[in-house]
Amino acid sequence: MKILVATEKPFAKAATDGIKKIADEAGYELVLLEKYTDVNDLYKAVTDVDALIVRSDKVTQEVINAAKNLKIVVRAGAGYDNLDLKACSGRNIVAMNTPGQNSNAVAELAIGMMIFMARNNFQPGTGSELKGKKLGIQAYGNVGKLVAPLAKSFGMEVYAFDPFVPASVMEKDGVHVASSVEELYSTCNYISLHIPATPETKESINFELLTKMPKGGCLVNTARKEVIHEADLMKALEERPDLKYITDIMPGSHAELAAKFGTRYFSTAKKMGAETAEANINAGLAAARQIVAFFTKEDTTFQLNK
Ligand code: 3PG
Repeated sequence: MKILVATEKPFAKAATDGIKKIADEAGYELVLLEKYTDVNDLYKAVTDVDALIVRSDKVTQEVINAAKNLKIVVRAGAGYDNLDLKACSGRNIVAMNTPGQNSNAVAELAIGMMIFMARNNFQPGTGSELKGKKLGIQAYGNVGKLVAPLAKSFGMEVYAFDPFVPASVMEKDGVHVASSVEELYSTCNYISLHIPATPETKESINFELLTKMPKGGCLVNTARKEVIHEADLMKALEERPDLKYITDIMPGSHAELAAKFGTRYFSTAKKMGAETAEANINAGLAAARQIVAFFTKEDTTFQLNK
C-alpha cells in the first residue's frame, strides 16, 4: 500500500513523523508532497497511490482521474468542501474527514480574534473588554461547542443558533438558545461563525443579518469565506461605521476592505485556524489511522460519501 500526504500548507514535522510511524507499522509506503505550487505536481504524485491525505487541497475530478489506484482519500480536518465527493463516488473511492481533531485550535483562534478586535488590533487607543458582552455562536458543532466555555470563562454571555442541534444540548452547556439566526444577530455584540460552506450557507451572511447587530457589533469568521456575501459585507461596513469584521479566510475583496476600514477589518494572510502542532498531530495521525483501519478492518466510520 502506498499513502500520499499532499499538503500545499504542510503539517508540522511532528505530525508527518507520526503519520510515517503509523504507515511503517502497517507496512505501508509513505510519500510526501508538501508546499506544491503547481497542481500538475499533485496529478503526478497521485498516479500510483492507494490512499491520499490532504488538508484544504482540492481533490477534483482531475485529481481522481490521475489517481488510477486510489481507494481512499482523507481530509485531515473538518470542512470537506475541497473534496469532489461525486468524483470520488464515481470511482468507488471512500472519502473521509477527521471531525473534531483540530477544533480546539480553531476555537482558541476565534477568542483571540475577538480580543484583537476589542483592543484596536493591538494598536494604541482605548479598547473594550469581552466581559459582560454577548457572544452569538452560529452553529454549535465541534468548534462552536468549544468556543462556548472559553467565552464564558471571559465573562461573556453566550448564545447559540443551530437548527440541527437540540436546544437541550446547548442549555446543558449553559448557553442561551436563539430561536432564529436573526435573533442571534440582533442580540449579540460578537458573532462567531462555525457553519460549513454548503450550497445552503453560501453567501448567507448578508446585509440584512449584518446590520441587525447592535452598535459596535463584530463578526468573527474562522469558518469559510464562501458563507459571506462580500458585496453586502462591504455595504454594511460602509453604512454602519461601528461594525467590525475579522476573518481567518482572506476575502476576494481584501485589498478594498483593508484600504477602506482600517482597524474595523482584519484578515490573516493564510488560514491559520488549524495551524498548531497539536491540531496537525491530532488530524494528521487520525487520518493515517483511519486509512489503516479502512484497509485492515474495512472501517468506514468517517466516510462522507456513504
Ligand atoms: C478545517 O476545515 O479543518 C479547517 O478549516 C482547517 O483547514 P486547514 O487544514 O486547511 O488548515
